Amino acid sequence: MAAWVLAVGDEVVGWVALSNVSLGPFRSANLGYWVDARHVGRGLATAAVREACRAADELLGLHRVEAGTLLVNLASQRVLAKCDFAPIGTAPEYLHIDGQWRDHVIFQRILNDRAPL
Ligand SMILES: CC(C)(COP(=O)(O)OP(=O)(O)OC[C@H]1O[C@@H](n2cnc3c(N)ncnc32)[C@H](O)[C@@H]1OP(=O)(O)O)[C@@H](O)C(=O)NCCC(=O)NCCS
Repeated sequence: MAAWVLAVGDEVVGWVALSNVSLGPFRSANLGYWVDARHVGRGLATAAVREACRAADELLGLHRVEAGTLLVNLASQRVLAKCDFAPIGTAPEYLHIDGQWRDHVIFQRILNDRAPL
């Protein structure tokens, strides 16, 4: 996993993480992020996701990043669209959240066309 905290001054106001980092022919990771409700609407998530994708490409050498959002999470879907992610489908019962398996929209961003090392 690679993870970063988002800070305003000395206050932690969010995080972004790449998990399930896979190399070989897949070279992919799952992206997650969160911004404190008091700091939303300022572009923090968008900036963090862009930076995580840059690191996934330039530092980790990945080919692809995947992210999933609840169907109702339009703010998160907007963040992904602004960061050049494309929807690839809906995964039924994808994550267990608040006591129930929830459907998610799955997005991916292809980072580059390099062949695996
Ligand atoms: C979703 C979340 C990460 C957004 O963080 P943020 O820092 O406010 O995101 P940004 O400011 O970079 O961008 C938000 C965008 O969503 C838009 N937006 C906000 N609420 C929206 C809504 N209800 N419907 C549609 N768009 C919405 C904003 O207008 C903005 O787009 P714009 O720049 O075109 O105006 C934050 O609300 C959060 O952490 N939520 C809880 C955890 C979560 O959902 N994490 C993601 C899991 S997939």
